[in-house]
Amino acid sequence: MANVIVIGAQWGDEGKGKITDLLSRSADVVVRYQGGVNAGHTVVVRDRTFKLHLIPSGILYPNTECIIGSGTVIDPQVLIEEIDRIEALGISSENLYISQTAHVTMPYHRLIDQASEEKRGKHKIGTTKRGIGPTYADKSERAGIRVIDLLDKEGLPDLMTRSVKAKNEVLEKLYGLEPLKAEDVIEQYFQYADRLRSHIVDSSLKIDDAVRSRKNILFEGAQGTLLDLDHGTYPYVTSSNPISGGACVGAGVGPTIIDRVIGVAKAYTTRVGEGPFPTELHDEIGTLLGDRGAEFGTTTGRRRRCGWFDAVIGRYAVRINGLDCLAITKLDVLDSLEEIKVCVAYDADGEKCNHLPNSTAQFAKCRPIYETLPGWKQSTEECRALEDLPKEALDYLKFLAELMEVPIAIVSLGASRDQTIIVEDPIHGPKRALLQPIANNS
Ligand code: GDP
Ligand code: IMO
Ligand code: MG
Repeated sequence: MANVIVIGAQWGDEGKGKITDLLSRSADVVVRYQGGVNAGHTVVVRDRTFKLHLIPSGILYPNTECIIGSGTVIDPQVLIEEIDRIEALGISSENLYISQTAHVTMPYHRLIDQASEEKRGKHKIGTTKRGIGPTYADKSERAGIRVIDLLDKEGLPDLMTRSVKAKNEVLEKLYGLEPLKAEDVIEQYFQYADRLRSHIVDSSLKIDDAVRSRKNILFEGAQGTLLDLDHGTYPYVTSSNPISGGACVGAGVGPTIIDRVIGVAKAYTTRVGEGPFPTELHDEIGTLLGDRGAEFGTTTGRRRRCGWFDAVIGRYAVRINGLDCLAITKLDVLDSLEEIKVCVAYDADGEKCNHLPNSTAQFAKCRPIYETLPGWKQSTEECRALEDLPKEALDYLKFLAELMEVPIAIVSLGASRDQTIIVEDPIHGPKRALLQPIANNS
């Protein structure tokens, strides 16, 4: 039995979907613990591509139970579309469970997200406009609607009427938008409830059953460490806690059941939306990374900003998440480069800085200090063992592991399941051995 958390170690889109799917082979249960339909996790199996927003990436295994946990926010319309899409592809949703205590995204949340972004003008966050921030804001305000409320035929009309009335004031007076009709919203959400009813459970109890039966549980993070509400590059963050600590809160389990924490990081860096990004490239190399890496948002289709690997944020992710090891993805995207830069520290107003500053204004001023490594200029897509990798590619990985003082357990060289090198079993491998940098494993 081993319970593992898989988190994004950068600004999201690190390839968590691919790694979660890969590790789900030995998981009995996969739990999404935060975020909502802002997430877009891609799983490629042979010639088929699955883009998942709320459904955990373990869904492709017929015997794996997939739980959308309490800390997530649920847009029922998008979830139902997603269930229909996977069913149409021959994947059963029978093992999909939805927490009763997750909060529900309402039509006014989406409208407010869009309108407030417009109102922010040049100070916008660059959200996915899926209503995520406003749904979590209502949760904190204690004005939210939870999944369990959708099942309450008697109480729901009154709860929704009051909520729609309160939000109509915001829509009309603050943003000059048309008000919503409470009856329409109630009818629509009753229909969603009917459709989702059979999936709705007490998720904490269900996860506890799995723990007691000594099943293998994988907690799948959405977004990434630098988008964490408390520990990311605030205010350019999402409204939940993608970090490993968020898994216990969002799933409703105690930290003592967690055995391993695995971070997923790209071999370079990307970011969607606004906010500082010290290693961002505005030149032809940035374009090459974006093109070769197909760096377009899974949810919004926006072009992702691209740049060199940043070991300062990498070390930060190791610290904040207590990472045991890393999965490095998209190494193949660097295949054609003459040389590759890695940010090892920042220059902050002439001072060398090894840590991420807490002030966003200060972070925006940080300039990367690079070390340059030679490229390998050959394809790594067919490599299936460390020995198959060109020496320069291996040296690059060793350099990253040494900079971050964490071993690399998985290397990904393409979107498919098989385009992967398992350096060391990240779940069952001996923990002490895992704590050696890759240099000692090769
Ligand atoms: P997530 O949000 O962390 O699950 O990541 P996304 O799915 O949004 O973005 C990662 C993208 O990279 C997806 O299109 C994946 O299919 C793709 N991908 C994952 N691993 C690799 C890899 O090693 N190489 C390449 N070329 N693509 C990859
Ligand atoms: P996955 O799980 C990358 C970003 C948005 C924006 C900020 C806030 O696929 O890695 P929000 O809509 O959450 O209020 O937007 O967070 N963002 C993501 N960036 N990957 C994601 O998810 C993201 N989810 C949100 O672009 O900058
Ligand atoms: Mg994504």
